[in-house]
Amino acid sequence: MNRTPLVAGNWKMNGLPDSAAELHKMIGALKGGGHCDVLVCPPFPLIATFVHDSVDSGIGIGAQDCHFAEAGAHTGDVSAALLAAVGASAVILGHSERRADHGEGDALVKAKAEAALAAGLMPVICVGETEAQRDSGDAEATVLAQLDGSLPDSAGVVVAYEPVWAIGTGRVPENSDIAAMHHAIRQAVVGRYGDAGRAIRLLYGGSVKPGNAKEIFAIEDVDGGLIGGASLKADDFLAIVAAA
Ligand code: 13P
Repeated sequence: MNRTPLVAGNWKMNGLPDSAAELHKMIGALKGGGHCDVLVCPPFPLIATFVHDSVDSGIGIGAQDCHFAEAGAHTGDVSAALLAAVGASAVILGHSERRADHGEGDALVKAKAEAALAAGLMPVICVGETEAQRDSGDAEATVLAQLDGSLPDSAGVVVAYEPVWAIGTGRVPENSDIAAMHHAIRQAVVGRYGDAGRAIRLLYGGSVKPGNAKEIFAIEDVDGGLIGGASLKADDFLAIVAAA
């Protein structure tokens, strides 16, 4: 199965209007696209300008969350329809930081994913175990349960495996552990969606850097990465894109 790799940058709560300079550097270097799909997910207020600046660049712009409802009395939230209307193409959902900071559970993540799909956005659904869950041998069961509860009914998604203990820590699982988890996730999405599950891109996230990206992306069933810290600097992000 040939899947176009995807390298997605999750800027988290980083960036100010002048961070557009980093985006412009990425656009200049990628010159209208290349060998893989590239997505940049800045904070909400930067999305519309980033979309405007990246027209025809081959770089997609995404969000880091959305609400499950189409509209209504939800102070501080943003709908999938609005994200799509301002030109976002994707949305990260169920990131461990949202699961931890905002108590988001699998059912909510699934509802958001359904809303994203209905609005025409590509959901990037995040799953991953904590260090305690890995140490107790529960990593795979944890991730499979998260998938079971978080995946929407149709297959137009990307899944990002992000071990919580590898995020922002400089620690990365052994290649064999990444391979085993991605294999298990592939089996789960094929079990869920049939053949369409073979087309789903499975990203690895957690301390991906220019120095380890090539090795990680070479692992079977790793179809790219979800990049945090290293996506903020164009040079680092471009080096990771080049490795995909
Ligand atoms: P780091 O690349 O900073 O470890 O973050 C990974 C992540 O959480 C991406 O969503």
